[in-house]
This record gives sequence, C-alpha cells and structure tokens, in this order.
Amino acid sequence: MLFVCLGNICRSPTAEGVFRSAAVRAGLGKRVLIDSAGLGVQHIGWPPDPRAIQAAKRRGYDLAKIRGRRVTATDFSRFGWIIAMDDANLQALIELKPPDVGGYLGLLLDFAPDLGTREIPDPYFGGPEGFERVLDLVEASVPGLLERLQDTLGDQ
Ligand code: 4NP
Repeated sequence: MLFVCLGNICRSPTAEGVFRSAAVRAGLGKRVLIDSAGLGVQHIGWPPDPRAIQAAKRRGYDLAKIRGRRVTATDFSRFGWIIAMDDANLQALIELKPPDVGGYLGLLLDFAPDLGTREIPDPYFGGPEGFERVLDLVEASVPGLLERLQDTLGDQ
C-alpha cells in the first residue's frame, strides 16, 4: 500500500501513519507493505512537515520516522495498491506507470464516497486547520480502503 502526494511531507505521510495504525489493529501489520512517496524532488530525505507530525501526534499517530522519497518506476511492481491524494498526483502517476504492470491506482477519497469530495487539499501553504482537515479526510477514508484490501486478501 503506497500513498503518494506531491512533497511526501504532509498528506501522504499522514495517510501512511493512519493506515498503518488501522492495519496493525486489524492484524495486517506484517502482511502488508506500507509506505509513502512523493512526485517532487524538493523534500527527499526530509522528515514530514513539523505541523503534520504535531497534528498526527495529537491523534495518536507517529510520523516522526518517515523520510521523504520520490516515487520510482519499481514502486509500480512492488506495490499492488498505489493511492493518490489529489487529481494532479493521480494524473502524474498514470503517466509514470509502466504499461505492463497491474495493480490498483486511484484516489484515497474514492474509499469515502459519502464525503462528496475527491481530493485531499494540500495544506502546505495554509494554516493549522488544513492539517486537521487532512487528518479528518484520511481518517474518514482509511476504513473503506482497509475493508477493500481485506476483501482481496480474503480471496487469496
Ligand atoms: P504534500 O504537501 O504534497 O502533502 O507533501 C506539499 C509539501 C511541499 C510542497 C507542496 C506540497 N512544496 O511545494 O514545497
């Protein structure tokens, strides 16, 4: 399960942390490879944005050990699920995806259709409420994603 945004310092590390926590609780912590990556090059090797770390910590998620990295072509074969935070991320991933590789590629919020919104807004240039909004949206969609993953694992 690979979560992808632009910088890999705000949204996708948050999704990684929230999903990891839910997967561990569901007993899948060792069964599923969980990671995050970015499409840009600016924050390679950086920890998540301190605002993202703090906001997540208040809700019980530890993002501090995550380090930014860029999406690579091999990610498409290593990860059966690649989950984008917004439409721009998704379009970039569709262009990067090698044609012969299968797997799921889609938006995180597709797993929370009742929210009525497709994209997780980039909080980087805004205030602290943006980071809370990211957490709200991620927490609302992770259960649906985990359920879909469990359905496919059940088939194996
Ligand atoms: P992210 O947020 O894609 O959620 O990690 C961003 C972080 C940094 C920048 C853009 C988005 N930036 O332009 O530096």
